[in-house]
Amino acid sequence: MTMTTLAPQGHVRPPRPARRSRARRALVLGTAGLLAAAGVTTLAGAAEAAGTLGSAAAAKGRYFGAAVSAQYLGEAGYVSTLDREFGSVTPENEMKWDAVEATRGTFAFGPADRIVAHAQGRGMSVRGHTLVWHSQLPDWVAGLGASDLRSAMNHHITQVMQHYKGKVLAWDVVNEAFQDGGSGARRSSPFQDKLGNGFIEEAFRTARAADPAAKLCYNDYNTDGVNAKSNAVYAMVKDFKARGVPIDCVGFQSHFNSASPVPADYRANLQRFADLGVDVQITELDIEGSGSAQATAYGNVVGACLAVSRCTGITVWGVTDKYSWRSAGTPLLFDGSYTKKPAYDAVLAALGGTGGGGGGGGSAGCSVAYTTTAQWNGGFNGQVTVTAGSTPITGWTTTVTVTPPQRVSATWNGSPAWDGSGNVMTMRPSHNGSLAAGASTTFGFTVMTNGNTAPPVLGACTAS
Ligand code: G3I
Repeated sequence: MTMTTLAPQGHVRPPRPARRSRARRALVLGTAGLLAAAGVTTLAGAAEAAGTLGSAAAAKGRYFGAAVSAQYLGEAGYVSTLDREFGSVTPENEMKWDAVEATRGTFAFGPADRIVAHAQGRGMSVRGHTLVWHSQLPDWVAGLGASDLRSAMNHHITQVMQHYKGKVLAWDVVNEAFQDGGSGARRSSPFQDKLGNGFIEEAFRTARAADPAAKLCYNDYNTDGVNAKSNAVYAMVKDFKARGVPIDCVGFQSHFNSASPVPADYRANLQRFADLGVDVQITELDIEGSGSAQATAYGNVVGACLAVSRCTGITVWGVTDKYSWRSAGTPLLFDGSYTKKPAYDAVLAALGGTGGGGGGGGSAGCSVAYTTTAQWNGGFNGQVTVTAGSTPITGWTTTVTVTPPQRVSATWNGSPAWDGSGNVMTMRPSHNGSLAAGASTTFGFTVMTNGNTAPPVLGACTAS
């Protein structure tokens, strides 16, 4: 065993008792439930992600994403669930106008950048949400006169899209511009009221110029079935396509509950938009309820998307019920403890997934699992078990992220490298890179908690 002692911490490093039995048992049994019960976090490399929402959707040529809040990216259960299951993220609030340009001309991208960096580090795509919306709009925008508002809108679109150029796959350029009810009219907003009907077209033209490679979407709710509101959006998209106004996709938010269930003509509605020559995406899916009723509804939505060849992906509006905007309605796929709900199983089954989850499985690549092997007042020892997939490997890489003000004070059985913050340790083998199919090795480290006892978060395992 080789030991690397890092920056002096002024602490006496405690012994490293090898309380491995719990982790070994969990790895052998290999189910997500047992791993969760044992406090073990697993993450598999992309090649070994069979049985997750993201991999099952990818096998069908779709992405499966989640809305993400930057404030939870330090929570181990949130991050491990996100990283294991999802292939796409949408910042839930961090890219909205009030978040990025609260003061005219002053752009603040910090929280959104954190989400984008997280996604990029895991090979996830990003949906940008949203550029022009009447809500979460700073007061200064509403106070502008028409020509000033036009400049501000175009400047906002251009600055935000150029900041994320090449990093955002699709943007909700305009969000919720139509009224509910039977009128099919535009919703009153500063943009509509001062710029008139042309503001949507102008926003899309500006967006295309800002990042020609990004897909440009119109996004709305209560447009999931055929009704007056969706008819109005349909007419607009048809007109845009006929006149060459740049639009690539339409987002259907799909917030459902007992008062607003999944419409019987959901698939047909998606199909009629697709037939106009745009992609369709399910952008904010959540369905209030529980048990088999909720599961059936979720399965139906996924089935509808799969039945429409231009339905390119599904995003659920959050990772866990506890942080949902409708948390009382428990509308998501994971409960507050990150346990998979029946709705999760229904979605995975509808996607043709294999079940089992948790990362294990017998494909090529490698997976990693974390366990705390010792803890004391002021520190703990962590151990990561690296397991090869169904073929031998000659090397592996993973990351261990600690939460400031925690510091890693020592490591063993691996060669660490650090990012600029000192919080992210990339671990490679010291002598233990070659593993037979299914074989495991471990590395370990000591974390000085400095008052924060959060467990570290593991990155995916990459095999060579
Ligand atoms: O960040 C502040 C915090 O500092 C403050 O203490 C707290 C007090 O209320 O508010 C926090 O901001 C909240 C924000 O979410 C972040 O949590 C806002 O009040 C709250 O209104 C906001 O709600 C968001 C909502 O959009 C606003 O319209 C939801 O999280 C978000 O899920 C929801 O998302 C929308 C989509 O963008 C568009 N489609 C509908 C969907 C659901 O409403």
